[in-house]
Amino acid sequence: TPRVFSGIKPSGGLTLGNYLGAIKRWVDMQGPDFETIYCVVDLHAITVWQDPADLKRSTHEVAAALLASGIDPEKSVLFNQSQVPGHAELGWLFNCVARVGWMNRMTQFKDKAGKNTEKVSLGLYAYPSLMAADILLYHATHVPVGEDQKQHVELTRDIAAKFNHDYGVEFFPVTTPVIEGPAMRVMNLRDGSKKMSKSGESDMERINMLDDADTIAKKFKKARTDPEGLPSDVAGLKDRPEARNLVDIYAGLADTTAEAVLGDFGGAGWGTFKPALAELAVEKLAPISDEMKRLLDAPDEIDALLAKGAEKAEAIAEPILERTFEIMGFVRSR
Ligand code: TYM
Repeated sequence: TPRVFSGIKPSGGLTLGNYLGAIKRWVDMQGPDFETIYCVVDLHAITVWQDPADLKRSTHEVAAALLASGIDPEKSVLFNQSQVPGHAELGWLFNCVARVGWMNRMTQFKDKAGKNTEKVSLGLYAYPSLMAADILLYHATHVPVGEDQKQHVELTRDIAAKFNHDYGVEFFPVTTPVIEGPAMRVMNLRDGSKKMSKSGESDMERINMLDDADTIAKKFKKARTDPEGLPSDVAGLKDRPEARNLVDIYAGLADTTAEAVLGDFGGAGWGTFKPALAELAVEKLAPISDEMKRLLDAPDEIDALLAKGAEKAEAIAEPILERTFEIMGFVRSR
């Protein structure tokens, strides 16, 4: 069975983008077709400053969100990255395989660092090489992510190919980003040219997984749109990023396509569509956020689950890491 790996950073709250672009898809991939490994990537979170208490709370929050959304620790391996030391170890080995020129082409680094490249952490720059290690430590071939992570998964392939070539082995597999669905790039509600992210300045830009019903309704009501109503087909969404985004979000939440949504709402005005969208979002998110809050009252139970998951993850990772050291010529005599 093909192996799936994906990760999510515990840095600040989770958004509807994380839910539709990643978490919901991870839940769907559980089952007989794949072996699924899901990770709270805490080592990635500290590429930008994290207050220690916040890091702990965010780690619990992400784990709770995954459990509340339907990640089942019996069906999937669920753990936090720092409890499996192989991630950092293989990450270092890959820092010596990846080229600086490759890192320089990473658009997310350029976006995050801005003009201030002298002052950001070295970790932020090397981050994609650690991400490749996360995936390849398990020889995972399928990586469900949102559109914004595509370039990093492609870099993972480059690192695997260079390693295999340099050492004359067929060891690390080819990885494929799995980016399927109507809402793999959820945009900012106030500016359809920017991605919805947990770090945007205004809370009105995003829906948080823990937002209550009134807040969700208010945010969709105030979401930017254009003066035209909903078109009757997707061609009518061309060059209308804000309209397209709301239709895609609806389709993602309803498990349908943008075409089908426009089949139902084509010709309607935003005054009709936005309340329907808010109602659907509340219907889907409220049970999850209620369950998250319940789980967050018992962080010890979350910790026990993560510890168990880390043990299972380590059992898969250990022989792969040992073999990697061996291929590279390290003396491992204990
Ligand atoms: P992160 O923590 O920023 O986001 C977690 C997942 O959520 C998706 N996502 C979105 N999808 C659609 N629309 C959006 N607006 C949106 N915002 C976030 C992301 O694409 C991602 O799938 N580098 C990764 C974490 C990572 C990882 C890995 C992923 C570390 N190691 C190994 C896969 C495999 C990141 O920063 O995701």
